[in-house]
Parts: sequence; structure tokens; C-alpha cells
Amino acid sequence: MQIGTPLSTSATRIMLLGSGELGKEVIISLQRLGVEVIAVDRYKNAPGHQVAHRAYTIDMTNSEALESLINLEKPHYIVPEIEAINTDILAKIEKKSNITIVPSVKAVQLTMNREGIRKLASETLNIPTSPFAFAKNLAELKSAIDSKIGFPCFIKPTMSSSGKGQSRIMESTEIKGAWEHAAKSGRVDQGVVIVEGQVDFDYEITLLTVRAKNKEGKFLTHFCEPIGHRQENGDYVESWQPQVMTEKALARSQDIAKKVTDALGGLGIFGVELFVKKDEVWFSEVSPRPHDTGMVTMATQSQSEFELHAKAILGLPVNVSLIKPGASAVIYGEHDSNVVIYDEIEKALAIDGVDIRLFGKPESFKKRRMGVILSTGKNIDEAKSKAQEAKSLLSVKLK
Ligand SMILES: Nc1ncnc2c1ncn2[C@@H]1O[C@H](COP(=O)(O)OP(=O)(O)OP(=O)(O)O)[C@@H](O)[C@H]1O
Ligand SMILES: [Mg+2]
Repeated sequence: MQIGTPLSTSATRIMLLGSGELGKEVIISLQRLGVEVIAVDRYKNAPGHQVAHRAYTIDMTNSEALESLINLEKPHYIVPEIEAINTDILAKIEKKSNITIVPSVKAVQLTMNREGIRKLASETLNIPTSPFAFAKNLAELKSAIDSKIGFPCFIKPTMSSSGKGQSRIMESTEIKGAWEHAAKSGRVDQGVVIVEGQVDFDYEITLLTVRAKNKEGKFLTHFCEPIGHRQENGDYVESWQPQVMTEKALARSQDIAKKVTDALGGLGIFGVELFVKKDEVWFSEVSPRPHDTGMVTMATQSQSEFELHAKAILGLPVNVSLIKPGASAVIYGEHDSNVVIYDEIEKALAIDGVDIRLFGKPESFKKRRMGVILSTGKNIDEAKSKAQEAKSLLSVKLK
């Protein structure tokens, strides 16, 4: 495996499609390896734009804009970091050029839409999931809930993430509102929703699963220690690693993650989201890229999820070992403004084992994720309480 010199004719060039906080960390990891990085996002000065060799602002659902940028930059690898991308262009590029799409066009296409990945897991791979149905209109949604799914249930746009457009409802009077909420907030409006019966889990995890080559070039699957997390309104607010699990639940989780990631193919990290009750495990969804709850690995592992992704993409061996238990806590914008200030950071960082990442997003919304507290401790309880304490000491203000 070779890496050239950036900004020269020998450069190894990687283009990130989507350059938010997760993309930013992938870019930093790639920069450390001497890769030439091109960051693309839909808005100017995105977090990843600020640390790349070159930055572009385009609409990635627009096939012409995307294709002409790829032709201009001629990357060796394209790394989709978000779901709202014109994937037909990626499929065309994979066919007619040597550009590698990470981890694979199939993975990107199947996971950008809940319908693709859910059918693959449940129908093709026979993996347990929540009961589910798809609906194209309000009447179909009502009939799916009445005849099959029941209450409580979750309604989500088939194309969305971070809880956008998602509702949990308890009774029929709420169905119309949930349909409208989903139709309004889907990322790329497909007009289709998934309705899922509630899984009554004890806890939920992200199992970071890495498909990487060893030095002989053989494909291996590695599992990081499971990450536990807590979600509010479909968005993650805190995570910790390792999550304690029974031996059976861990083995089942790894088995599901292996089956799903084998089916998706390619090289890189995947965030496999699972629900667990005692020894029972249900597959929820998977990201073919680093996962937001996995930011905790910047504190806990010898190689963070971002470094693992960077290395795996390039065909390099990886090490997924955990060094210390740790936790993460999300810092929200708290204001709708483009001039927020993070204050009293010194108080937060005075706590032993606490660190911070501020993403540098140019605009804040009340519920926008602007940064994250990272912590380590002798066990996850200590790490979690340190992260929460640090978060409470920090303040986000208007100028
Ligand atoms: N069928 C279900 N049963 C129980 N809880 C659920 C179900 N579906 C979703 N949830 C809860 O809502 C959270 C978010 O759901 P999901 O992961 O499908 O949404 P998302 O928009 O893709 O969010 P993200 O991008 O943050 O992963 C889950 O982590 C879980 O806590
Ligand atoms: Mg999720």
C-alpha cells in the first residue's frame, strides 16, 4: 500500500461528500497520513471545509454539479459522509472509472433509504428487526398501523437521519400529525414513510464494525467494544463505551453486524445500531461510515473510529482495542444565531479526564449539535458523570 505526497503529481486524493463534524475528524485522520483531501458540503465553511486542502460548496443531490466537480478534482476515493447525495452518479462513476466509492456503491445506496436496508436485513438476511411496514400516503399508514403494527409505534421518513421527521405515537388521533411531520422533514422527499412497532429494549448499542485488510491483503472484520447511548427525540445526547452485555447478546450482535456488513461490502467502518433485551438482539439500522455515538472513541480507543475509517479505506491494517472506559455528551447550540460563544470551557476541562471538541459550525440552532464533551474514567458510570458535569459547567452564549 502506497501513499503519495499531497499537492504533487503523486498525491493520494480523497473527496468527502459531506463535511460535518464526523467528516472533519475523518479528514484530520487522513491529513495525518499525508492524503490530499477535498471537502464538499452544501453550505460554506462547514466543519470539514476548515481542515481540508480544498473546499467546495455544492448541492450534492444535483447530478451535474456533482459529476463536474468529480471530473475536475479526479479523486482516487470518494467518501460519502451524508445520505443526501445523488447516488446514480456514484454508480455511474464506479462503473466507468477507477475511483473507489467508500465503502461501496451498494452500501451507500441501500443505507441512504430505510426501505433498502430494512428489506436487506429482514427479508434477505433473516435478521430480527422491529415489525415494520411502508406507506406512501395517510390511508396506507392508517391501515398498516390498524392491521399489523399497533401502538406505540414510530413513524419516520424513509430518507432522514438524526431523528428528523420522526414521531413516536400512542393512538390513532396522532397518525395524521405524524404523517405530516414526516412528509415535511425528510431530507430528500420521497413521500414514503416507514412505520415500526416499538421494540421494548433494555438498552441500545452501536457496534462499530470495521472491514479492513491485513498486511497480506486479506479482508478481516473487527468489532470495537459496544457503545451504549441515550437518545432524545431520535437524536443522540450521550454515549459510553464499553456497554456491559451478556456473552450471548454480544455474540448475537457481532453475528448480525458481520452479516449486514458482509452484505454491504467494501472497506471502512460501519455503525451497526442494535436494540438489546437480555440475550435478545434486534437490528435497527446501519451507517456505512463513522457514527455520531462513536465520537466517544476519540477518548477511549487507541485508534478512534475516524482513524479506523481512514486506515481501512486506504487498505491499511487497524487496531480496535479499547484503552479506557469513557463517555461523550453532546453540546447543543441553545440559540438560533451565527455568533454563539462557548464560555467557561476552562471549568469543564479542569475535570480530570475531560476533553472537548467544538465543531466550528458557522451557524447555531437551539437543537444543533455544536460540539461534544469527551471523558474517561475508571468505569462508565464515572466517565458519564464527568461528561455530564463538564457539560453543565460550560455555557453557550450570544455575543
Ligand atoms: N422501533 C423502535 N423501537 C424502539 N425504539 C426505537 C424504534 N425506532 C427508533 N427508536 C428510537 O429512536 C432512535 C432513533 O431512531 P433511528 O435510529 O431509526 O433514527 P435516525 O433518524 O436514523 O437517527 P440517527 O441518525 O441519530 O441514528 C433509536 O436510536 C431508538 O432510541
Ligand atoms: Mg439511528
